[in-house]
Amino acid sequence: MSASELKVELGRRYRFAASHRLHRADLSDAENMQLYGKCNNPYGHGHNYVLEVSWAGDIDPQTGMIANLADLDAFVDHEVLQVFDQVSLNEDVSEFANIVPTTENVCMDIFRRLQSFPGAKLKRVRVEETSNNSFEYTGDGTIDEPEPVEVLPGGATL
Ligand code: NI
Repeated sequence: MSASELKVELGRRYRFAASHRLHRADLSDAENMQLYGKCNNPYGHGHNYVLEVSWAGDIDPQTGMIANLADLDAFVDHEVLQVFDQVSLNEDVSEFANIVPTTENVCMDIFRRLQSFPGAKLKRVRVEETSNNSFEYTGDGTIDEPEPVEVLPGGATL
């Protein structure tokens, strides 16, 4: 096997800080509180998110690299960090005007933004919301507008 046939995966880590509020405008305040609990706080709350992006590609025999990290960083900075860092996800990112900015949805939106990098194939986006929560997306799905939910007493949903 020649070097040009070697598929290697490249991982890169980034950070951004943003606030969000988990809230659906089509539900009542009481239903939102039952569904999202303290994450429905009207003032929102912030996270220091950690973003891990994985790319796969052939090793360029001229450079020994899949992609130039400076090119990747510039792309991620323009497509994601400049959009997501130091903002209110609900108020400042138009994609979340009607879609609740859970980290699941943030993860999928970031994947969509990074898919068009020309030099390597995007494999996976992983977002850590806290040291205990992380979410991964590999590109097989679309973000749906929310369906009505039935919130049961105690906050369980159907
Ligand atoms: Ni949160």
